[in-house]
Amino acid sequence: MADKAVTLTIDNQAIELPIITGTVGPDVIDIRKLYAQSDRFTFDPGFTSTASCESQLTYIDGDQGVLLHRGYSIEQLSEESSFMEVSYLLLNGELPSKAELKDFSYTISRHTMLHEQLATFYRGFRRDAHPMAIMCGVVGALSAFYHDSTDISDPQQRTIASHRLIAKMPTIAAMAYKYSVGQPFMYPDNSLSYTGNFLRMTFGVPAEHYEVNPVVEQALDRIFTLHADHEQNASTSTVRLAGSSGANPFACIAAGIACLWGPAHGGANEAALNMLREIGTPDKIPHYIARAKDKNDPFRLMGFGHRVYKNYDPRATVMQKTVREVLTALNVKDPIFEVAMQLEEMALNDPYFIEKKLFPNVDFYSGIILSAIGFPTTMFTVLFALARTVGWVAQWNEMISDPGQKIGRPRQLYTGPAQRDYVPLSKR
Ligand code: SDX
Repeated sequence: MADKAVTLTIDNQAIELPIITGTVGPDVIDIRKLYAQSDRFTFDPGFTSTASCESQLTYIDGDQGVLLHRGYSIEQLSEESSFMEVSYLLLNGELPSKAELKDFSYTISRHTMLHEQLATFYRGFRRDAHPMAIMCGVVGALSAFYHDSTDISDPQQRTIASHRLIAKMPTIAAMAYKYSVGQPFMYPDNSLSYTGNFLRMTFGVPAEHYEVNPVVEQALDRIFTLHADHEQNASTSTVRLAGSSGANPFACIAAGIACLWGPAHGGANEAALNMLREIGTPDKIPHYIARAKDKNDPFRLMGFGHRVYKNYDPRATVMQKTVREVLTALNVKDPIFEVAMQLEEMALNDPYFIEKKLFPNVDFYSGIILSAIGFPTTMFTVLFALARTVGWVAQWNEMISDPGQKIGRPRQLYTGPAQRDYVPLSKR
C-alpha cells in the first residue's frame, strides 16, 4: 500500500519515491524506478538497509526481541505448538484444525523414505566427511531422483516437492550421522512423530528396539520450531535468489544448506560449542572476552550478536530454559553449561558488548542441548538445516507465487580499471 512519498533531489531534478507501509515494522522507500529516473544505483552491501521482497511469513522486531510466524509469537508457538503444526502454519498461513494437522502429518510421514539408490550415494563419501558436505551433496542430488516434482510452474509439483523436502531431511540427516559412525542406516518408522522418527533413525540400531525419550523428543521438537524460519537471513535469501532463476526446489534448498554452513550463520552453533569447550573453565572467560574485543584479533564470541536483534534473541531465552529442563531430565552435569552461563553474565555486563548490543543468539545455547542429547558438534548445523527447510520451502513458494517475481540481479559500484588496450606479450 503506497500513499506517501519522499522526494530525492539529484542534479536539481526532484524524484518522487513512493513509501510503502506494511502491517508492522519500518516503512519502505520504493526505489524500483530510481535508476530509470536518476541513472544512479543505491549502494548497500550486506543489505543492512534494504528490503529484498515483500513477505507474510515471519516478522522480527530487533529492538523489542519479537519474532512472529504468521502473527503468532515464538514464545507461544514453542511452548504450546509443535514443529509439524508450525510447519503447516508457515506453509498455509493459518493454524490447522485437528483434522488438517492429522492429514498434513500423515502426508509428510508418507514421504520420509528416500529412493533406495540414494543410500549408495553416501558410499561415495569418506566416512569422516563433514555431515554438512553430505547434506549439500545428497539434497542437491534429489533433483536427479524426483523429476516428477521439479516443474516449478505446476502448483501440484511445488506442493509435492515441498512435502518431500520437509519429510526427507530427517532421513537424510540421520543417514549422514549413521554413515559417519559406521552404523547401518535405519528406515523411518511412521508410527512415530516427526521428531521421534528422526531420533530413532539417528540413535536406534536394527539390533534393538529404540524407545523415544519424551523429554528429548519435546526438547528437540521445540528446537526445530525455534529454527523454522527467520525473515530474509543469508540462507533464505540464497534460496530465494536461486529460485528466482527458475532452478528446481531441490537445487535451491541445497544452495540454502551451503550458505547456512558458514560460521557467521548456521555454523555458529557448532563454533559456539567448540568455543565453550576451548574456554573450558570459568576462569578462562576474561581472556576470551578480551580477545573478542581486540580489533587485531579475528576471534569473535560465537553465538553472540545478530544483524537484526539489538536487544535479545527471543529464541535464546526459550533455548536457555530448555537447556535446564534437558540437563535435569537427563541428569547431565555439563560443566560447559556453567561456562556458558558465566560467559553470558560477564559479556552482558561488559561495556563493549553493551555498546555494540551483543548478547546470546539462538546458536549460543542450542549446542549444549544437542550435545547432552548425544549429537556430535558436526551434526549441529545439520539439525539447523533440517528445521530451516520448512522456512526455506515456505519462502520459496511465496516467491514463486508472487506475480511480480523476477530474477534477482543486483548491480554494483565498479572501481576497477577504466577501459584500456590489450598489450601483446612481446611488449610486456
Ligand atoms: C544466525 O540473519 C539471521 O536471522 C540469522 C539467524 C537465523 O535464524 O537465520 O538468526 C541465525 O546466523 C545467528 C547468528 C550466528 N552467528 C554468530 O553467532 C557468529 C558471531 N556473530 C557475528 O559474526 C555477528 O554478530 C553477526 C554475523 C551475527 C552479525 O554481524 P553484523 O550484523 O554484520 O554486525 P558486525 O559484524 O558489523 O558487528 C558489529 C560490531 C563489529 O564491531 P565494529 O567493527 O563495529 O567495531 O560488533 C562486533 C563487530 O566486530 N561483533 C562482535 C561479535 N559480533 C559482532 N564482537 C565480538 N564477538 C561477536 N560475536
